[in-house]
Amino acid sequence: MRRLVAETSLEPRHLVLPMFVADGIDEPRPISSMPGVVQHTQDSLREAASEAVAAGVGGLMLFGVPRPEDKDARGTCGVAPEGVLNRALRSLATELGDETVLMADTCLDEFTDHGHCGVLDAAGGVDNDATLKQYADMAVAQADAGAHLLGPSGMMDGQVAAIRAALDAAGHQEVGQLAYAAKYASAFYGPFREAVGSSLHGDRRTYQQDPANRRESLREVDLDLAEGADMVMVKPAMSYLDVLRETADRSPVPVAAYQISGEYAMITAAAQNGWIDRDAAILESLVGIRRAGADIVLTYWATEVAQRLSGRR
Ligand code: PBG
Repeated sequence: MRRLVAETSLEPRHLVLPMFVADGIDEPRPISSMPGVVQHTQDSLREAASEAVAAGVGGLMLFGVPRPEDKDARGTCGVAPEGVLNRALRSLATELGDETVLMADTCLDEFTDHGHCGVLDAAGGVDNDATLKQYADMAVAQADAGAHLLGPSGMMDGQVAAIRAALDAAGHQEVGQLAYAAKYASAFYGPFREAVGSSLHGDRRTYQQDPANRRESLREVDLDLAEGADMVMVKPAMSYLDVLRETADRSPVPVAAYQISGEYAMITAAAQNGWIDRDAAILESLVGIRRAGADIVLTYWATEVAQRLSGRR
């Protein structure tokens, strides 16, 4: 009877797996603050991607981790066709074709030596408009490498319009954008900084949203929609379920939510201590995000949960 009347469903196709691919490693490197998640080599990435697709996940979101010595102030190795992320995209596009939606993080923070999401001005602040030019080049390089959907996550004003114009001019009309629209300056990104070997000192509060605010995020969503976003995202998920609900109520395009590294780490740590029922907590967290309005959920548990939902685990 409960199954008959359940209002919210969770299916493998709703889930997107974020994946890290690193240069300069010979085998997958564990991320200590995210037990069970690794930085992949190009080979292990292909294997894990195929496993996720076989489990039925809706898509893959790739993040690149360059060698520290390859980072510079402009994040050049994130734009270069031979950079770690673009090589991974090319390899998965060849391997998987249209079997999944191949997504790329379109942001500079993994590639800059200062760790910010954009290039800096003389005073050390992030230069919004100079960053847009770099995003435009990065987007075209990612589309050239075979990405289907780009995830601009840097929270620069005008990034969606700048990327759209660059993609169209390069003949990539069919490549879309999952815009990180309402992205908060969150303490829960902590483990991600280890995952991508971030060089960041300081914080991102000059370009990410203040956790206290709701209206400015809804404005960000409206701006991204006006600029041509094909889907919009709210991030993190758990602390922002109200923002997610309001976004879902107003958005004419699909809405995604990102269950981020710190959310993964919290549930994992509590479960390792025997304090909560791991599998039940994972499912409850994901159903809650779906109930709050997410069409799509990015989660580091995507493969495992997809396998569980289809009875393969
Ligand atoms: C920025 C980016 C971040 C995450 C995804 N894209 C980090 C940040 O904004 O500081 C966080 C993802 C997570 O914590 O799981 N490129």
